[in-house]
Amino acid sequence: MWDRAGVSTPYAVVDRDVLAANVAAMQAFCDRRGIALRPHAKTHKTLEIARLQLEAGAVGLTVATVGEAEVYADLLAQADVDVLVAYPVAVPPERLRDLARRVRVVVGVDSAQGVSRAAEAGVAVSVEVDCGLRRSGVDPAQAGLLAAVAAARGVPVHGVFTFPGHGYAPGAAAASAAADEARALADAAESFTAAGLECAVRSGGCTPTAGHVDAGVVTELRPGVYALQDAQQVALGVAALEDVALRVRSTVVSNAVAGQVVLDAGAKVLGTDRPAYVEGHGLLPAYPHARIERVWEHHGVVDLRGGAGPALGEVVDVVPNHVCATVNLLDELVAGDETWRVAARGRNS
Ligand SMILES: Cc1ncc(COP(=O)(O)O)c(C=O)c1O
Repeated sequence: MWDRAGVSTPYAVVDRDVLAANVAAMQAFCDRRGIALRPHAKTHKTLEIARLQLEAGAVGLTVATVGEAEVYADLLAQADVDVLVAYPVAVPPERLRDLARRVRVVVGVDSAQGVSRAAEAGVAVSVEVDCGLRRSGVDPAQAGLLAAVAAARGVPVHGVFTFPGHGYAPGAAAASAAADEARALADAAESFTAAGLECAVRSGGCTPTAGHVDAGVVTELRPGVYALQDAQQVALGVAALEDVALRVRSTVVSNAVAGQVVLDAGAKVLGTDRPAYVEGHGLLPAYPHARIERVWEHHGVVDLRGGAGPALGEVVDVVPNHVCATVNLLDELVAGDETWRVAARGRNS
């Protein structure tokens, strides 16, 4: 189905006004508290949005992979800012060394092996600490020890970072994860002091917890989703539907089965993230009573739940549950009269 000239559904549209407002709002939030903003650019994977964030005042970018850092390297170097690979990086040192020739790089470490890799590549590190998610990161009390290992090898240590991802739950979870984050970063900083080292950067954050940040401890925030927002953030009460800047435009391709319609947006564009606190596989702003109950790769089955539904051939917008997953599945984003390439797509290592 052809909706925008030359573009077939399903495709993603970005509302540039909403995007700009989200970027400005998070920057202003951080500025007011004296916190540096280092947006996680794995959410949007596009140079255009990264540029907007840097122009708004971001101190640099966060990425999840060296491949993403390679895509953003020139933009970051031009802006004279650095990149944090907030991940226990395991790529060959030569590749990190090449990247470091193009842009200032800081990599996450949570082991002596990670420190050795950074030392071989000649890049700086930030020590990752666990604040309750139990994914990666050392015990905050041990952070200083690892920092001392790095310092002994001549590796510059920027500080510590943590990811309060257990704040992705309804109710008081975000506030409580932000408190865990502050405690972990404070403990980590204390362990640096005990090791005779300075802990200049205490980095935290994700989109749901950002609003609860303890500015007395945290010096830097790394939210990613905030720029585009998604149905998860709406369900958590972090964003309103009007704050969502990206929607998947789809077409009703079947209404043959009673009580439902089928969209051409399935798992290969919406992704499969469906936490317990969201309803269905994405929101349908024009049909709020309806629910995307099931997805196959190219089918999104909408249960109309007894209400009116879109006609066969109608174009319908979907707010995806997790925008990072959707962007990762797309080659480009339609942003008004521009088309933005998802330049870091597939850069998974
Ligand atoms: C290490 C790290 N920092 C920051 C973020 C950004 O959080 P969010 O996607 O909730 O904005 C993520 C997201 O996965 C992450 O893994």
